[in-house]
Amino acid sequence: MKLRLHAFSFAVAFGLALQAQQSYMASADVAVFYPAMYDAAAHSPSPIFIRELAPQGAVSPAWKLRPAFSTEDGKSVVRIKVDADADLYGGGEVWGPLRRNGKTIEFWNVDTPCYGVDGGTHLYQSHPWVLGLRSDGTSFGIIADNTWQATMTTDTEIVFRSLGPAFRMVIIEKNSPQEVMQELVNLTGNMEMPPLWSLGYQQCRYSYHPDTRVKEIADTLRYHKIPSDVIWMDIHYMDQYKIFTFHPQEFSQPKALNDYLHSKNFKSIYMIDPGVKAQEGYWVDDQLMANGYAVLDEEGKPFVGKVWPGDCHFPDFTRPEVRSWWSTLYPPFMAQGVDGIWNDMNEPAVFEGPRSSMPITNVHKGGDGLRQDSHLRYHNVYGLNMVRASRQGLLLANPTKRPFILSRSNFLGGHRYAATWTGDNYSNWEQFMASIPMSITLGLSGQPFNGPDMGGFCGDSNGKLVANWTAVGVYFPFVRNHCIDGGRAQEPWAFDQECLDVCRTAINRRYRLMPYVYTLFQEASKDGMPVMRPVFMADTKDKSLRAEEKAFMLGGDLIIIPRWAGDANLPSGDWDILPLEDKDDGFQPYLAQRPGSVIPMGNLYQNTVEMKSDSLTLLVNPDAEGRAEGRLYEDDGDGFAYQQGNFAEYKLQAATEGKKLTVSISKVGGKAAEKQRTLRVGIVYDGKVTYSPWTASNSVTMKVAPDKQFGIDKSKLTFPQVPELGK
Ligand code: GLC
Repeated sequence: MKLRLHAFSFAVAFGLALQAQQSYMASADVAVFYPAMYDAAAHSPSPIFIRELAPQGAVSPAWKLRPAFSTEDGKSVVRIKVDADADLYGGGEVWGPLRRNGKTIEFWNVDTPCYGVDGGTHLYQSHPWVLGLRSDGTSFGIIADNTWQATMTTDTEIVFRSLGPAFRMVIIEKNSPQEVMQELVNLTGNMEMPPLWSLGYQQCRYSYHPDTRVKEIADTLRYHKIPSDVIWMDIHYMDQYKIFTFHPQEFSQPKALNDYLHSKNFKSIYMIDPGVKAQEGYWVDDQLMANGYAVLDEEGKPFVGKVWPGDCHFPDFTRPEVRSWWSTLYPPFMAQGVDGIWNDMNEPAVFEGPRSSMPITNVHKGGDGLRQDSHLRYHNVYGLNMVRASRQGLLLANPTKRPFILSRSNFLGGHRYAATWTGDNYSNWEQFMASIPMSITLGLSGQPFNGPDMGGFCGDSNGKLVANWTAVGVYFPFVRNHCIDGGRAQEPWAFDQECLDVCRTAINRRYRLMPYVYTLFQEASKDGMPVMRPVFMADTKDKSLRAEEKAFMLGGDLIIIPRWAGDANLPSGDWDILPLEDKDDGFQPYLAQRPGSVIPMGNLYQNTVEMKSDSLTLLVNPDAEGRAEGRLYEDDGDGFAYQQGNFAEYKLQAATEGKKLTVSISKVGGKAAEKQRTLRVGIVYDGKVTYSPWTASNSVTMKVAPDKQFGIDKSKLTFPQVPELGK
């Protein structure tokens, strides 16, 4: 094998066409295929993989999926025939159905207000990735290791067409989609644990200003008892939209504002865009210009393009020295009490630019083995390289805190640096419903921490929509209400009592489920299983679930069934409806709990700073043998001590003997001390929960309900919320 590769590089060095295609196994189930005329310098080092793939042996003749490389109309093309029965997923941030068979998307990150550009066939991010699921439940993953502008068609033949040089393909073969997701993480890296506060409810708009308005929003959230953790600062906090500055009148005392927010247990997140106002005397631009750190035009001059501040220069984040410089801008900024960063407009968006960005002939210099190349190659990773630099900056500012960055643009592998939201959607039912397959797809494409603007960004929202969207949105990984400048206010209290009450109930549910949600983030971080999952993950062999995109899963143990999804396809088995309130408001989705599962639920807190887990409710849906199991992961909720083993992992176990159910919680991993708790058990059966009394012990025994009905009885469910599409 080594000899062959040596011959391969020799041939490339001398520009010779190789007769045979090159391929090797990079691990037991991962094969790598190269085109004949592969020019490694046009693609590597890859932004996707955490380490360079190395040959471990030859690809067996029985290997199923084999790419065919060719050139068509000057484009580098790869075709892979897949099994006709395979259901296809992935492609990252895509608009449209969950099941991607018969779809073509473009990989060209674009600023797309209301997803209106090119019919929504490409959005802000690119994930050249396909997850395939065959009828028998076996699964495959396909990565095109290519950042150049390209398209991807997913059909019985998967076709990539790129405007750049020929690229290599990485193919994963496994027995299940779960194993494929784990392999994707092995190859592309783990998402580090986010800070606990970033899993809470977040309130945003374009923009809350001046600072007194920000305080008012914080106070109103507390007044209405809406649990919440974060207030967001959009561009108006800046002085003339200059990044790393504060408006001299409206945000004259940023430290005092952030101190105020902290005193109410809120965190603050501020926007930083890539465009640096081209203005002599503005220190960020002066440094950028003096060091020659900007992206260049084809004549070698710093490129100038318009964004919010008017004419801007753009840092060339392909260069390691530019990323280091960029990171130094964060410590003084974060020292004002800033907790997290929002990197927006990083496709990069350029007003009046070609395809709303910069010319493809612009030049990025690269470094650290990355060669100088055109924007055509680096456009799709502009956002990824920006958040890579920002993450470096946040760690420089606060080395012992988990950095939280939200990015609009990104690329496959960029989950290592930032969470994401799905950009400028529209306040209507269609986009609310579309946000479900979109977020699931992002999760299946290796980006577990994502969510939409809840309530919708463009246009005016309304009380029914905000109520319905929040009722379902609290089960997404990222939960933030955000809307456009000049649009109607859409905080939970901005409409009527019904909307406020529905939102509060929904957000209360999110906070009570936080022990479960945090455990799911740890699972995503370790095993690559998305936090929000398609229903087919409940039974990967049940073909009827493969296109389900109204109902979805939060982790492996809960299915969320919106109150407008009466026709959702659900798995067979004894899933049971879990009511969390005494009175049904008709908006909260049905939660169906997996038979054989135990879900840890906390008490209600108004924010994660106050949150404690010394008393827990363990919700048990016993299987036919009366048994159930669950997991709980806990750590400090911030910092990196968990990476040194300072966490605690618990096994939740339930067993029935005669008419008694015993449920216990016991530590099975981690160095953190085992907690002594007060527990309450809730047995879920026939759409009801029966609770035991609170007991100061890590084990509780209670009487089993005598007449447990198994399975979801749909006739007992009601679906009153009919989507009013377009409204
Ligand atoms: C972009 C963002 C949006 C933000 C606005 C102003 O449109 O996608 O979320 O509010 O810019 O910064």
